[in-house]
Parts: sequence; C-alpha cells; structure tokens
Amino acid sequence: MRTPLVVGNWKMHGRLAEARELASGVRDGLKRPRGVEVALCPPFTALPAVAEVLTGSPIGWGAQNCHWEDTGAFTGEIGPGMLAELGCRFVILGHSERRHLFRETDDDIARKVAAALRHGLQPLLCVGETAEERRQGLTFTVVEGQLRAGWAGLRADEIARSVLAYEPVWAIGTGVNATPAQAAEVHGYLRGLVSELASKETAQSLRILYGGSVKPDNAAALTQQPDIDGALVGGASLQAQGFITIAKKSASRGGSSKE
Ligand code: PGA
Repeated sequence: MRTPLVVGNWKMHGRLAEARELASGVRDGLKRPRGVEVALCPPFTALPAVAEVLTGSPIGWGAQNCHWEDTGAFTGEIGPGMLAELGCRFVILGHSERRHLFRETDDDIARKVAAALRHGLQPLLCVGETAEERRQGLTFTVVEGQLRAGWAGLRADEIARSVLAYEPVWAIGTGVNATPAQAAEVHGYLRGLVSELASKETAQSLRILYGGSVKPDNAAALTQQPDIDGALVGGASLQAQGFITIAKKSASRGGSSKE
C-alpha cells in the first residue's frame, strides 16, 4: 500500500515573505489532503519560517541537500541533524542540479543518504538520465548505476525508509515532461531493482516519484500510472494554486492508498 507523495522543490527561490505566503497558501488549500501526502522543500534559510507556518497541518517539510557529517569544519555546509532539529521529514539528495552543476558524485550522495537515515530523515534519492544517455539507449544502465551507488551499503530496513525519484534530466525545467509511458517503463524497472536490493515487500511499499516538468495539466496522467507514486515538482511548486491542483490530481483514486 503506497500513499502517493507530492513534494515541492522550491530550489533557490523563496525570500522569507514569499516563503511564508506560499507555504500558507498550500496549507490553507490542503487542509485535509485525502489519499496523498504533501511536503515542501524550501531553501535552508526559509525552513524555520515554513516549519512555523506548517506546524499543526498535515503538510510536511524537508531540505534540498545536506552534508554527510553531523558537525565539523565544513564551511558553508548543513548537517542532517540540523535539519532533523527543524522537524524536516525529507531531504532531497542527488538531484541532477547537484550532480551536474555542483559535481556531486555517487559516493558523496551515498554518504549523504546514509547520514540522513541516521538522523531519521527520509532521503529522497533522485536518479535520471540525460538526453544524450537516453538517445544512446543507456537509460536503464544510468538509473540502475545511480540507484545501486546511492544506496550502497544500506540495510533492507534503511531502504524501506527511503523515497526514490525518477527525474529524467532532459525533462527538468524544460517544459518537456516524460510521457506517462516513458516514465512508467523506468519506474517499473526501478521497482524491480528495489525488489532485488531489498525485498519484494519493500518494493511494493517504497514510493517512486516522477519529476520533470510536472504541471497541473499533466499530473494526473503521470501519477495515475501504476508504478508512479506521486511527483517531485520544481517550477510549478512556486504557485500555491497550481501545486495544490497537482497534489489533488496525484491522490490515489478513491482517496485511499495505492496497492
Ligand atoms: P521542474 O523541476 O518541475 O521545474 O521540471 C523538477 C525538479 O527539478 O525536481
């Protein structure tokens, strides 16, 4: 049974006043979300303000990155314990912007995933191929490599506390989403891998989100695919109304969990 999850990745957007307004809008529009879990991931600086707005509501919050060490001489970094202390439920790790723009390696990401789990955070690991890799027929090879590397050394019970996101790089911020069939094919492949890396039961309960140009008008077609358990939303999460629509359209049919 999987309750779909819809996460807003605000990226580097959200000065305090905007963050409060956006989080309040989402909270007020989703007072009793049915058949869907919702979380917002603002920039670090807005986390306390967003936490204050969302406390007492069903909407969770999380961060967009963390370091693998708890504390230490790591100028400019944020430790996972610092996020847990702010009530974060999730931390997005291995986003393609982190991999490509900030040169994060699979090894860095694996250390971050393990550190997040140690602090009770749910690591939301992102995997996805570039346009060139897809053209060369390497989609499965790439996502499999990223998944195996990102979860390296995890026990099955740790995998069970994780979330995965399939985000084809060519679909992020481009307005060109993967078709439901393209996404479903990769999601099915990833679920098979989860079964191998953890267990069949974990593969059935683990949520695999789709990300990449999810909008109010394509959310239903994508998230109603059997192996797609919600969405990781970038650009469209910056408008409360649109994001609320995406969350509602991603809810499991009949308002109950997916099987
Ligand atoms: P997008 O971003 O929805 O703007 O394509 C998705 C993401 O980067 O997580």
